[in-house]
Amino acid sequence: MSTSSIIIAPSILSADFGRLQQEVDSVEQHADWLQVDVMDGHFVPNLSFGAPVLRCIKTSLLIDVHLMVSNPEARIQEFIDAGAQHITFHAEAVPQRSDQERLVSIIRQHKCTAGIAINPETHHDAIQTMDVDLVLCMTVHPGKGGQKFIESVLPKIASIRSQHPHMMIQVDGGIDAKTAAVCREAGANNLVSGSSIFSAADRAAAIRSLRGL
Ligand code: DX5
Repeated sequence: MSTSSIIIAPSILSADFGRLQQEVDSVEQHADWLQVDVMDGHFVPNLSFGAPVLRCIKTSLLIDVHLMVSNPEARIQEFIDAGAQHITFHAEAVPQRSDQERLVSIIRQHKCTAGIAINPETHHDAIQTMDVDLVLCMTVHPGKGGQKFIESVLPKIASIRSQHPHMMIQVDGGIDAKTAAVCREAGANNLVSGSSIFSAADRAAAIRSLRGL
């Protein structure tokens, strides 16, 4: 993928929650989206934060809400009201195709784009012919930041790219300069990164490195 078309989405999961607005300010001029990782302690073991935290954030970055929750339908409205512009839910949480399509439609009715996420062990056949704005190929098992990138997801990214040349393919988990390069090569054009950005002293340089610059 050409580096100019790559979207970088810092994940606030790895930011210092005690100074969250300053953390967002530190990446705002360099990134494109801001990912808000919502965990319900049921779909994934950890509990992260709800819509009230998103309401406190002021940013020009596109707000991308990643719902790692068992009942995403119950969460959509509150995150849209809190400022979400993109919402991704997990195929594993909504196994029925008809329900997935209904959620995509609900999200789009609110002028939000809709994404579907698949975990490393989920085959992409499940979403191949779906009408969706983004596919999130998890490159770690969801639930926390700072995990090791799972290389075996790369063929899945390449297969989705070959069948959907214009699809936005997002990756999330263990994304740093090195793994970003192989993900871009495989066809990903939207990179979520938490710890590699927020642990960096120079966040602008960290984000540039994810773009291959
Ligand atoms: C997993 C989370 C993380 C987070 C990014 O549930 O979704 O992937 O966004 O974490 P890092 O970039 O630290 O692996």
